[in-house]
Amino acid sequence: MRVDVRYYSRNGGTKKLADAIAAAIGAEAKTVDKPLEKYADVVFLGSSVYGGKPDPSVVKFIAANARNIGKIVVFGSACTGKSTYPAIKSAAAGQAVKTAEMFFQCKGQFWFFNKNRPNDQDCADAADFAKKQIRILGVT
Ligand SMILES: Cc1cc2nc3c(=O)[nH]c(=O)nc-3n(C[C@H](O)[C@H](O)[C@H](O)COP(=O)(O)O)c2cc1C
Repeated sequence: MRVDVRYYSRNGGTKKLADAIAAAIGAEAKTVDKPLEKYADVVFLGSSVYGGKPDPSVVKFIAANARNIGKIVVFGSACTGKSTYPAIKSAAAGQAVKTAEMFFQCKGQFWFFNKNRPNDQDCADAADFAKKQIRILGVT
């Protein structure tokens, strides 16, 4: 069973979560401009909110790699705490790709709001979430 981690991060917050998740599950976190090398049963996909939406490169990643994605697990951060989960789920469904029911979301720094978020606790929570998802989705 293969698990991959891909993310898009403008200011480094989502990268922090991606690195914590990758370390927890023994994978390598790569940006969404790196295609999947082969089929992955689970792809942890990091995507934050910019102007109310995910970055277009995240949606492009799904379309370009649909054949190689078994299921997407969404994670991310946002100033308001809003998740890109609904937008990602909809984009994935349009490519006949499944999205896990659960997602990880935390606050993200934006100007002087949520300073240093995601912080160490957020990263630890994201790592725990990823390990639980691996168990739930049956990937060992
Ligand atoms: C251009 C821009 C637009 C943003 N728009 C939103 C938004 O609409 N809603 C929100 O909750 N956060 C918004 N944010 C805050 C980001 O979602 C938040 O800082 C997030 O942690 C960024 O992740 P990153 O560090 O991985 O890029 C915006 C940030 C930027 C830079």
